[in-house]
Amino acid sequence: VEPKDGIVDITAQQGKTEFFDGIQTNTYGYNGSFLGPVIRVNKGDTVTFRTKNQLSEPTTFHWHGVDIPGEGDGGPHQILEPGESEDVKFTVNQGASTLWFHPHPEGATAEQVYKGLAGLIYVEDENSKSLGLPDEYGVNDFPLIFQDKQFNEGKQFDYQAVRNEDGTIGDTMLVNGTLNPNLTVGKEKVRLRLLNGSNARKYTFKLNTGDTFLQIATDGGFLNEPTEMSEITLTPGERAEIIVDFSEYDASSNVALVNEAGSILLPFKIDVQKTNSIEIPRTLNDYVVTEEEKNLPVTKKLELFGMGEMVYINDKQFDMNRIDFTQKQGETEIWEIYNKPDAMGGMTHPFHIHGTQFKIVSIDGKEPPVELQGWKDTVAIEPDQTVKLAVKFNNKGIYMFHCHVLEHEENGMMGQVEVI
Ligand code: C2O
Ligand code: CU
Ligand code: CU
Repeated sequence: VEPKDGIVDITAQQGKTEFFDGIQTNTYGYNGSFLGPVIRVNKGDTVTFRTKNQLSEPTTFHWHGVDIPGEGDGGPHQILEPGESEDVKFTVNQGASTLWFHPHPEGATAEQVYKGLAGLIYVEDENSKSLGLPDEYGVNDFPLIFQDKQFNEGKQFDYQAVRNEDGTIGDTMLVNGTLNPNLTVGKEKVRLRLLNGSNARKYTFKLNTGDTFLQIATDGGFLNEPTEMSEITLTPGERAEIIVDFSEYDASSNVALVNEAGSILLPFKIDVQKTNSIEIPRTLNDYVVTEEEKNLPVTKKLELFGMGEMVYINDKQFDMNRIDFTQKQGETEIWEIYNKPDAMGGMTHPFHIHGTQFKIVSIDGKEPPVELQGWKDTVAIEPDQTVKLAVKFNNKGIYMFHCHVLEHEENGMMGQVEVI
């Protein structure tokens, strides 16, 4: 959807979804019964998200990856009670990217996302419009939201029954809310916008053929150059855009996106009638970590620690009434985040900051791999790893930072930074 007179209606609602033939599963969705729309906005536009809560419980509307004033960010402070609505007006202030939105009420984020509340925001800009990349929605440019779910015998989501303190993992894959999905693509170059919208599971995406693909974007924008990859790993909350060249395959080709174990996530059907001759440009962006940024001293140190209910940032658990850090609007600071292992070894924590796109300056003192040299809002931090981020907020307000394993976030692995 695109804004009409600058306004986009977004309603959180209950519904029923037929994942299994003839069976209705109770779900949540935005403007529909499961998941939500793709909202398309342009850099420089002033838009109003007209949010409405038609659920029977409180929710919030959080714009993940969006450079937005704190009061509109939709963190746990900005609760909408059932029946309430609110206009969130802001000017799109960032480059072309694939962002998303989901609820963030304290204590119910994980469950509400699990039940289906998640949608996408595409930002376009002059650059993205001039690059000539595949950009026909549903033709050669597809969003792909990966989520794992657990259905009970009645084919319902019983989140409380399957909830795991270290992140709820399901045995059933949904892609864009579809069970046993497949995607028909042309015999051509196709753009796939991948979102790991799962509560906790991480995915390593590959092609079953062993062929490579091009990564063109990270969470918050294009890489400088298309990067040839044989696999890509996304932890919860992370996105990537890739170009898969299907022109070498034909109708009988057995080609699919698979996970690290080789299990099929999404098989493709090739429509050989459909072709294009799109050339992927060699230069996509002008992202740079400056010498100045590399030389800035560390001014914020965070230590991630723990598992299950005992998860901490700097030995503390989330408190709505405590501001953990302050930072000045428009000033770049270096955040150093260390994932401290425990006796069991520890876990990977996808670390996310609201209201900004940051740069990864280093991982364990080294330059990040080329596929992480781009704007990010969520970064996977392995046990015993230290990651330095250059973080700047363009707006004021209170923003969350947290582990994007949603059950960890719920268990208190979250803090607040106030931008002044
Ligand atoms: Cu996806 Cu607190 O966010
Ligand atoms: Cu967020
Ligand atoms: Cu975590």
